[in-house]
Amino acid sequence: RADAAILFRLDGEARILRAAAGAGQVSPDLVADLEVPVGRGASGLAAAKERSVWTANLYDDPRVPVPDDVKQRMRQEGLRSVLAVPLLIQSGEVFGALAVFYRSERAFADADVELLSAFGTQASVAIENARSFDHLALKAGHDAALQDFCLRLLEAPDEAAILRDAASVTTALLGADCVGILRHDATADYLRLDAGLGWKPGSVGVATVPPTEWFAGEAFLHRRSVEVADLGREQFANPPLLAAHGIRSGIAVPFGIREQPLGVVVACYRAPHRFSDEESRVLTSLAHQTALALEKVRLYAELQAGLAELKEMQAQLIQADKLTALGTLLSGMAHELNSPLSTIEVSIELMKRQASLPGPVRARLDVVEKECERASQIIRSLLVFARRTPPERRPVDVTDVIRAALTLQAPEFDLNHIRVVTSLDPIPRIWADPHQLQQVLLNLFSNAVHAMKSAHGRGVLTVRSSDAGATVSVAVEDDGPGIPAAHLGRIFDPFFTTKAAGEGTGLGLSLSFGIVESHGGRISAENIAGAGARFTVTLPVVERPEVAEAAPSPVVPATRCARVLVVDDEDQLRKLVTEVVIGLGHQVEETPSGQDAVARLASHDYDVVLLDVRLPDLDGKAIWRRLLVDRPALAARVVFMTGDTMSAETQAFLTEAGRPVLTKPLTIERIQRAVNEALTAPSVHEGART
Ligand SMILES: Nc1ncnc2c1ncn2[C@@H]1O[C@H](COP(=O)(O)OP(=O)(O)OP(=O)(O)O)[C@@H](O)[C@H]1O
Ligand SMILES: [Mg+2]
Repeated sequence: RADAAILFRLDGEARILRAAAGAGQVSPDLVADLEVPVGRGASGLAAAKERSVWTANLYDDPRVPVPDDVKQRMRQEGLRSVLAVPLLIQSGEVFGALAVFYRSERAFADADVELLSAFGTQASVAIENARSFDHLALKAGHDAALQDFCLRLLEAPDEAAILRDAASVTTALLGADCVGILRHDATADYLRLDAGLGWKPGSVGVATVPPTEWFAGEAFLHRRSVEVADLGREQFANPPLLAAHGIRSGIAVPFGIREQPLGVVVACYRAPHRFSDEESRVLTSLAHQTALALEKVRLYAELQAGLAELKEMQAQLIQADKLTALGTLLSGMAHELNSPLSTIEVSIELMKRQASLPGPVRARLDVVEKECERASQIIRSLLVFARRTPPERRPVDVTDVIRAALTLQAPEFDLNHIRVVTSLDPIPRIWADPHQLQQVLLNLFSNAVHAMKSAHGRGVLTVRSSDAGATVSVAVEDDGPGIPAAHLGRIFDPFFTTKAAGEGTGLGLSLSFGIVESHGGRISAENIAGAGARFTVTLPVVERPEVAEAAPSPVVPATRCARVLVVDDEDQLRKLVTEVVIGLGHQVEETPSGQDAVARLASHDYDVVLLDVRLPDLDGKAIWRRLLVDRPALAARVVFMTGDTMSAETQAFLTEAGRPVLTKPLTIERIQRAVNEALTAPSVHEGART
């Protein structure tokens, strides 16, 4: 039957009791802002001493000192006596106090005290239950939000999306004024505000803080969460970033992957704030999920890059494979064509030596000879294409090669209204064949010119070079129509062309590919967004390998009449060679068969053996190996003839044999030179037999 009742709640930090609810004859104004310090007034004393306190006259009781402002307000309400009991929750902690007031002056009996205490206890239990419930509900709300966050992270496409989402979820869950995700930059050793909410414009993505300077740094360095309830009171310095935003309190939680610390998530407030376990739990979980998601995105990007590289490598391998197959075909063709061509060429030379030849016939022979030379040239370039001609490498200044190729093509550029732009970085010399590199550039230039000319009758060609340490690269860009996506995978294929018949063979790029590949480099094509195509040639900067340079042999005149054996299965060619050698004043035996050659070599001595590498029965290689064992002196007299300039195997064999090689198509001068060379070269003597 009290006139009024007020429930107070303890603010432990401020050491005051605040009115939380009221009943009976009290004005709502009173309940709204009534405060009593702990230890003063009946409620303050009850909370401090954790026992019931009463006074019959709260205006004048020395045992219960009431602050003057409280007395004044009680007087306004007309309340005179009061009984207060503490509200204790299960942990024994004081939650607040419950006070009943009377208008009259009255003393309280033990029964009154007991009754209110009992009620207070019940109220405490109910309050505690309600608080637990609220807490659980809050936690459940947080967990649901975190779970949603995790689901979104699974689909986050990139780092930026993850960081943005993490900042907004943190803001929503912790109700913080400023939220930041700071990541550590190992090179500069600072934490950078990579994402956040609530900061002034120009802070996010820009602001940096040394890790040693503030509480977030402490969290990062010591890998533990740090809470600062009031920056003004604690030992942490207040960095300019926080001062500029009027931050008073904050919590920082580190995040990382395995042993690797990555950064810190911070939530800051403009007022002092005591952090609950729940807030710290939420932030820790959020930071952890963010770190995992960032790592996922990083690994994914790494995987993509690896995959792209693998795909490119695969494409290069396939291309190289096609070229190898074609190379084998071309090498065979070259062999077949070189022999008849040799026959024709040598025949012409012999015919032209006849003084009695009528003028018109001689002129016709000149034409035939020229055409033969052209055919040889075509075969040679096919062999270059088939990569049967290894690069003749030397230290090369690529910038010089680019300039030379540009100069060569200059008239073509002028004619087609092409403006050339260069951006050439200084690059180190590389070990390469300058002619072959020039060939590659000329192919790229002429393709670009053709593309630009046919698209708009003019254009800009840009050539860039750059040095990437282990490699150098040259990019050739045009502003033509670009390469249709469907063609991108085929342009390096031999004979792929979009040019009209007679305009292009489709060999330019595959030839270039072969050359670049034989230099251990790469060539790739791409379209430039909105403008033309870009071809990039990347070449390794390799040291000059240790190889002995072969000095060119001088032409030595024949000194004596020698005995020569010619072994070649091509009848026409063998007969011609024989004729030529006889013409040089030597004595010649000839045979189309390897077996027969072996028989002759076993029983006769020769000064020179002209030996075709490929023979139908026993080939030149086998004959040479037998000679090495049985007649080493004769082995030292062998000159090999070969038409397929040359398969890798033949090449290896010839290098190993170390004998002179006469490559077809032949000419009289070359036959002469080879025979003389063999005659004058020092040889292994075989005692009685030589
Ligand atoms: N800069 C470019 N812009 C657009 N398409 C290009 C470019 N360079 C090459 N191509 C395409 O690639 C194809 C193949 O080029 P490649 O140099 O191998 O042969 P080609 O130029 O057609 O003939 P060739 O070089 O033997 O005269 C071309 O026909 C063209 O379709
Ligand atoms: Mg071309």
